[in-house]
Amino acid sequence: MNWLIHDYREDDLAAVVHLIDSTAELGQESVFSLAECIAALTERRPAVVAVHGSVPIGAALAQLGGDRAWVMRIAIHPAWRGRGLASALLRELERRLVAARVRRIAYVLPQEELLGDGLANAGYVRRPAVAYFEKTEPGSGGSADVLADLGGRLLPEGLWDGVAGMTTEKTLIERRVVLPLAEPERAARHGVRPPRAIALFGPPGTGKTTFARAVASRLGWPFVELLPSRLADEGSLAAGLREAFARIAELERVLVFMDEVEELAPVRTGASAMHGVTNELLKLIPGFREGDERLLVCATNSVRSLDPAFLRHGRFDYVIPIGTPDEAARHAIWSRYTGPGTEVDLAALVAASELFTPADIEHAARAAAQAAFERDLAADGAEQLPAGAGTGDFLTAIAQCRRTVTGEMVEEFTADIATHARV
Ligand SMILES: Nc1ncnc2c1ncn2[C@@H]1O[C@H](COP(=O)(O)OP(=O)(O)O)[C@@H](O)[C@H]1O
Ligand SMILES: [Mg+2]
Repeated sequence: MNWLIHDYREDDLAAVVHLIDSTAELGQESVFSLAECIAALTERRPAVVAVHGSVPIGAALAQLGGDRAWVMRIAIHPAWRGRGLASALLRELERRLVAARVRRIAYVLPQEELLGDGLANAGYVRRPAVAYFEKTEPGSGGSADVLADLGGRLLPEGLWDGVAGMTTEKTLIERRVVLPLAEPERAARHGVRPPRAIALFGPPGTGKTTFARAVASRLGWPFVELLPSRLADEGSLAAGLREAFARIAELERVLVFMDEVEELAPVRTGASAMHGVTNELLKLIPGFREGDERLLVCATNSVRSLDPAFLRHGRFDYVIPIGTPDEAARHAIWSRYTGPGTEVDLAALVAASELFTPADIEHAARAAAQAAFERDLAADGAEQLPAGAGTGDFLTAIAQCRRTVTGEMVEEFTADIATHARV
């Protein structure tokens, strides 16, 4: 599967029109005319394009009308037929339609069209009299409504690439988590079972939430964060959890994120009010694990405060430590604050800010900018000062910043890696 699928862009027009036009005689014609397709492409997205190298090899486009959408056309270059590209394009198109709150997706094809089997496999029902295919999203209000109720959404593309540095963690998560989920057939050929639940632990502010969001963005799955405060709205937290997982089961694919999970599943000491909640969560995870295309990501700053039964094998596939940003990550984060084209000695800042979290760096950068601003105020226009903080301002701010991660925390984290990490 060596193609990439992206949203239709204006400069794809000529190539997509050519695909639609040149494949019309190959049994890929549709009830929509070329002119209608062009109008839909240019005004009424969504449309998706598959490219191999940089050459468009397939396209799928739709037209929206209220809560129903019509798939207007799936055009595949002849050399790429029969390799699953049509299904891949349809899946990408459906994702965008569901995000646009579409509930019914219809696709009308000529009688002899070969794609028919593929559509049935994708959940479309054939209406015999008119050879009319329609798909109704399951559940009361459709996936889009379930997702909205859960406070979930599709995250923007590209968050994965936005995670700077952290090569060790990034490579590990990519190989163990992202790729088996993204390519389940390929993983299965080697006997690799995709993970269903992972836990991330490490000091505060090191990027656990950032990684969870990046994985969802990379997979193109909706991101649902379960917040205890919100779950308890319904009455009891245990009931809220049960209700939330029932709704999650209605979604076709989803990444569920639970932050500060040690609060939901703390070490059991005596009669804790949380016992019921912990038990509920332990009961819900096996059911969650049975579905394909779903991943639970739990994060904690304090893995040692978690109920030991919680992280057991069989519940969590991996327990992954996320430490303070490495040099490359600090470099990337500092460069966000120093601005392009300045003379700031980034290497000096990187070296001086070991063990700083991204949040610490942000704080120090702000203090440095403030110092430059105050210097300017003091000079009161008497002299022309360079704009922005200089290396000295940054180094002073770093020296004055109280680090979030103390030496003691580093020791604890190192010990936790030895006792809890499972990668
Ligand atoms: N590798 C990274 N590259 C760039 N920014 C990062 C990175 N890791 C964390 N950040 C930023 O640092 C801040 C804190 O990260 P977060 O993921 O909330 O930490 P945690 O969930 O571990 O407490 C966020 O603003 C995030 O954007
Ligand atoms: Mg967090």
